[in-house]
Amino acid sequence: MEVVIVPDAAAGGELIAEAMAALLRRKPEALLGVATGSTPLPVYQALSAKVRAGEVDVAGARICQLDEYVGLPAGHPESYRSVVLREVVEPLGLSEASFMGPDGGAEDIPAACAAYDSALTEAGGVDLQLLGIGTDGHIGFNEPCSSLASRTRIKTLTEQTRKDNARFFDSIDQVPHHVITQGIGTILEARHLVLLATGEAKADAVALAVEGPLSALVPASALQLHPHATIIADEAAASRL
Ligand code: GLP
Repeated sequence: MEVVIVPDAAAGGELIAEAMAALLRRKPEALLGVATGSTPLPVYQALSAKVRAGEVDVAGARICQLDEYVGLPAGHPESYRSVVLREVVEPLGLSEASFMGPDGGAEDIPAACAAYDSALTEAGGVDLQLLGIGTDGHIGFNEPCSSLASRTRIKTLTEQTRKDNARFFDSIDQVPHHVITQGIGTILEARHLVLLATGEAKADAVALAVEGPLSALVPASALQLHPHATIIADEAAASRL
């Protein structure tokens, strides 16, 4: 595992955007796995700036989602589908056709999970998966105690994660209890994992993921198993390493 400490979130965003741009120059049809939350926003801003500056052509890129809430009405602004379309797909000038994600509104959620897991493989696998990290060490929505071999499936959010994500909703009561997430085993199949962590609130989770034992209690520690994993942390998030 490679750990890179950067001065601030903007520097982390620039570094990852350059890695994505380099990948797309080499492989224009690359499948980029994106994450939601506040942390990755500087990555998307930096990549969009590179597109506007003509430094990289992303027209052939494909984008896939890491996770999704279950049961939000179609088109809800905080469904991760809406968030990824708004924050990544549209700013990059891509169409919805280049984007894939799990169906959180499906009647048969287990079937939707299995279909998405297979779709990722059929699409050739994820070339670069961007990850954030929860304050409890989760990746995607794989909460502590998720099997390290898990596949895409339905999960129940912890109260801590619902509280952490309540800021995107009018109140915590509106935060769904259930989600679909790529499993840890699914995530580990991406060719390159890039985890970005910024801010002091992530310092404990980063230290446990990087220096703690491999443990289902800290899902991000699964990156220790991956042959090409990069953790990029700002000074505050790296402060307990
Ligand atoms: C959610 C997402 C994760 C993300 C986490 C942290 O739980 N499912 O993919 O890493 O939030 O979000 P933030 O970056 O806003 O702290």
